[in-house]
Amino acid sequence: MQTKEKVLEVKGLKMHFPITGGVFSRVVGHVKALDGINFDVIKGETLGLVGESGCGKSTTGRCIIRLNEPTAGQVIFHSERGKVDLLELDRDAMRPYRSEIQMIFQDPYSSMNPRMTVMDIISEPLLIHCPEMNQKAREDAVHYLLDKVGLRKDQAMRYPHEFSGGQRQRIGIARALSTNPKLIIADEPVSALDVSVQAQVINLMMDLQEEFGLTYIFIAHGLSVVKHISSRIAVMYLGNMVELGDAEQVYNHPVHPYTKALLSATPMADPRAEKKQRIILQGDVPSPTNKPSGCGFRTRCPLAQASCAEAAPELRLLASGRKVACPFVEEAE
Ligand SMILES: Nc1ncnc2c1ncn2[C@@H]1O[C@H](COP(=O)(O)OP(=O)(O)O)[C@@H](O)[C@H]1O
Ligand code: SF4
Ligand SMILES: [Mg+2]
Repeated sequence: MQTKEKVLEVKGLKMHFPITGGVFSRVVGHVKALDGINFDVIKGETLGLVGESGCGKSTTGRCIIRLNEPTAGQVIFHSERGKVDLLELDRDAMRPYRSEIQMIFQDPYSSMNPRMTVMDIISEPLLIHCPEMNQKAREDAVHYLLDKVGLRKDQAMRYPHEFSGGQRQRIGIARALSTNPKLIIADEPVSALDVSVQAQVINLMMDLQEEFGLTYIFIAHGLSVVKHISSRIAVMYLGNMVELGDAEQVYNHPVHPYTKALLSATPMADPRAEKKQRIILQGDVPSPTNKPSGCGFRTRCPLAQASCAEAAPELRLLASGRKVACPFVEEAE
């Protein structure tokens, strides 16, 4: 990473989904999927976003591109057109920015129309965002993109079911690249693939990042997947961010008790490392409809004390530049 230029600033982002009940469908509660998260994304980096299932990772991605309408907060995007809070835009005003931010999903097959050819699937965003392009230019663009993701031109007229899981993810990546985006949010793009295929898709994404100067938010539930690809890692728990720092720091020297526990659950390449201080989490993640008061992690935290029930800890900056949401931990000297 050569610059510290920001691409995105997420500030105080909240997504509280209403729960309705009773005969009058009144709002009886809220799922606090995101409870005020803050982070920046730096140009050219890969920010790995990790945490157990249900902690709000997909909702973060979906709120950034407005597939969900957040309850509160700001999503400031640094576009070539200038700096803009995406949450203040209406649908029409949002469209040009949507072409600059694309999303890749865990299961690209479910978002592909089985009756559309690969040509139609990849060129669909071009029809929406570049209506001035003629058919020949669109076809050329699709052939170019297929080549870039390691598929053949003659596969353009085939249908999604004719491809393997890894190839379908390559088609999903080609579609995301079609509008020449600046930022790609990849939501568990390799979680459904075999381990051998995972590495191929991650390597492809890293090559494309370098060639096209892309910035990634890369979502995964475990730290081992993001370690290799990420410049920085952000760890989420129950709708909050608990630790954010350089990938190497977070992976090798975690400070938040939840990050430590998440790493204890990750098989280590070095068996000696595995012996040191394993933290096994007790109990399940509480429901986001009924979050504990204060620190959301306190019901499972080995360091919890009475004051942890009072106020939700904010992310604070440590000397090394990493941030942690717990007042009781420090970095090892
Ligand atoms: N549309 C929705 N309506 C109500 N609750 C939702 C909706 N989408 C997600 N949730 C809830 O928000 C929480 C976070 O979900 P999600 O962002 O999908 O987590 P993750 O991607 O980390 O597994 C979960 O409890 C989930 O059930
Ligand atoms: S604030 Fe308290 S409960 Fe939360 S992580 Fe720190 S010690 Fe644990
Ligand atoms: Mg998810």
